[in-house]
Amino acid sequence: MENTIQQSGLLIVAYIVASVLFIMSLGGLSNPETSRRGNWFGITGMAIAIVATFFHPQVSSCGYGPIIAMVAIGGAIGSVVAAKIAMTAMPQLVAGFHSFVGLAAVLVGVNSYMAGAGMTGAARAIHETEVFLGVFIGAVTFAGSVVAFGKLQALIRSKPLLLPGRHLLNIAMVLATVYCGYLFFGVENLLAQGIPALVVMALIACVLGVHLVMSIGGADMPVVVSMLNSYSGWAAAATGFLLENDLLIITGALVGSSGAILSYIMCKAMNRSLVNVIFGGFGADEGKAAAPGSEAAGEVVATTVEEVACMLQDAKNVIVIPGYGMAVARAQHPIKEISDKLRASGVNVRFAIHPVAGRLPGHMNVLLAEASVPYDIVLEMDEINKDFPGTDVALVIGANDIVNPGALEDPSSPIYGMPVLETWKARTTVVLKRSMAAGYAGVENPLFYKENTRMLFGDAKKSVDAILARLQ
Ligand code: TAP
Repeated sequence: MENTIQQSGLLIVAYIVASVLFIMSLGGLSNPETSRRGNWFGITGMAIAIVATFFHPQVSSCGYGPIIAMVAIGGAIGSVVAAKIAMTAMPQLVAGFHSFVGLAAVLVGVNSYMAGAGMTGAARAIHETEVFLGVFIGAVTFAGSVVAFGKLQALIRSKPLLLPGRHLLNIAMVLATVYCGYLFFGVENLLAQGIPALVVMALIACVLGVHLVMSIGGADMPVVVSMLNSYSGWAAAATGFLLENDLLIITGALVGSSGAILSYIMCKAMNRSLVNVIFGGFGADEGKAAAPGSEAAGEVVATTVEEVACMLQDAKNVIVIPGYGMAVARAQHPIKEISDKLRASGVNVRFAIHPVAGRLPGHMNVLLAEASVPYDIVLEMDEINKDFPGTDVALVIGANDIVNPGALEDPSSPIYGMPVLETWKARTTVVLKRSMAAGYAGVENPLFYKENTRMLFGDAKKSVDAILARLQ
């Protein structure tokens, strides 16, 4: 008896320490300079949580065999997948992982419902509410994440599926869920009445999850992944209530709220409303003809490595704008060397980061940090946009949508209203990309046709290597 009290006391302390570490981890991850530390806080918190769980009275009474086997198998698969995955495929990896969280919430919910047989009164009502909500959120998260994975992996077409009356369809599914709840709560026979209502509700929630994500266009998928991240957090929190596990409740709430905040930040950066993203529609106009007078006009002028090297040597102020193409080409290391070289000869070189550059929040910050670019020359869009008029060369490396003037000037553009880096205000803009292909949002970019724009065609890594060789 005394042993059990001591054990649960230690467990509470371990869970509190782990919770504090998770909060410190989130704090650390909010800034590139402290992000490594933040990661370590998270890893330590998770290690403490896992070890402490082994001492949970319910776990120790069941024996350690199955749990150790599962941790070993899951850990091995997770490590191999994480080690092999390319940085550019990270969104679909995250989506895939979220589907497991959703599925786990559904399975725990059904199991816990059966284990709760015999409960009465308020305790039963609370328990059934937790089960119902946990299974609903888990099923939406599971099915939505599977579709998000399919879209990001190009297994499913990324164009939004816009069924006629799709909002009514969603409302009908929510009403059907409510009706299942009516059939589910307080039944006499859990197996014959409760479980069928729960399973039908889970199936409807799966269809709802599929439909919600199918109706969202490719350009919004990162926001959807972050929203699913938030849902998976709430699903985990619901599971925590079912298992009476405080740490799972806290962790789930942290993931749920940080995912929601992240989605809000991304939407704000794209000048979109969260409701508009979640219920789809954007991207529906992809491929629509540009409004009269808004087509990109002018001539595309190609340049050479030699010319770009000379421009950089003669410049006083240079701004580098990295985008998704820099991540694909892995050009961050040579571009860092170019910046070192230019800075050593007195050129003021800075990097401009758009909040949705690349495919993940902070994607470019991570790559530049990996290449050891000093943090003080990496500036956010709001800090640096005003400096383009006094800049000699704006060097755009594999970026497209985030430097599209159409977002400010063309009301017919699907990305109209999104704040962008105004590189065209620099004396010369040099764009490094392989072709005239569109970016993620699938829209044409008038920047490429401006008089002061020069296109350096080719793989960004090869072009940057060649410029570096020229500077040496
Ligand atoms: P994109 O608009 O996707 O443009 C990337 C460009 O890189 C492409 O046009 C491509 O042109 C070029 N490229 C690809 N591989 C290359 C290589 N090896 N060498 C040189 N160039 C290469 O990227 P962006 O400007 O970073 O914009 C991000 C997009 O993602 C935006 O539409 C944004 O709304 C969306 N998005 C991002 C987020 C987050 S959180 N980051 C969230 C939601 C939405 P070529 O094929 O011609 O080379």
